[in-house]
Amino acid sequence: MYPVEISGPRLAWRELTTGDADALIDMLSDPGLFRYAADQELPDVETYRGFLAEQIEAARTPERHRYKLGITVDGVIAGMGGLEMTSATATAAEIGYLLAPAYWGGGMGTEAASLLVDLAFDRLKLHRVFAGADPANHASIRVLEKIGMRYEGTRREDVFKDGKWRDSVTYAILETDARPAR
Ligand SMILES: CC(C)(COP(=O)(O)OP(=O)(O)OC[C@H]1O[C@@H](n2cnc3c(N)ncnc32)[C@H](O)[C@@H]1OP(=O)(O)O)[C@@H](O)C(=O)NCCC(=O)NCCS
Repeated sequence: MYPVEISGPRLAWRELTTGDADALIDMLSDPGLFRYAADQELPDVETYRGFLAEQIEAARTPERHRYKLGITVDGVIAGMGGLEMTSATATAAEIGYLLAPAYWGGGMGTEAASLLVDLAFDRLKLHRVFAGADPANHASIRVLEKIGMRYEGTRREDVFKDGKWRDSVTYAILETDARPAR
């Protein structure tokens, strides 16, 4: 499915374009965003533009399984994330999301994540949506609980960060589970 656009009361998810590279790199340069993420290096803007171009080409194919999208608030890039189908039969997907810190604390993370669940079940007709989080990432875990996901278990030493292995918790929701009203 391409292009995907989903709007909530305060924010929207949309396809990324190569023109978003500067705004995204600018946003991703904030180390606070990766406090709980695996070690990774941020590419320069040109490399990132090339990466976006490749992603867009792959997204336009009928076999699309990765929905890497941008979050906008009043038309301005405010975050990113998306959904990646993981099962061989493409009935399950993992979601992920991040918001620029200026938008934290007002319910937007919950809105963004619940729109991804709507995309998975209502439009892509998937059966299961899951997400992983660092056990100390209380804001993200709360977001997952608020969108109706349930704790399923802890993956041991799943993520390498700051020279150490860290566990990650898995949360999931099925198409048959209740989705909380927004
Ligand atoms: C995770 C993230 C998207 C949350 O965004 P947000 O807009 O602040 O989320 P919301 O306001 O919708 O909800 C956050 C919930 O977590 C709670 N919360 C926030 N910080 C918390 C903390 N340190 N401890 C416990 N709960 C916390 C809030 O109170 C709220 O719950 P409530 O409505 O029951 O009070 C944002 O913090 C972010 O982008 N973080 C960096 C990237 C990241 O960690 N992504 C997730 C990867 S798994």
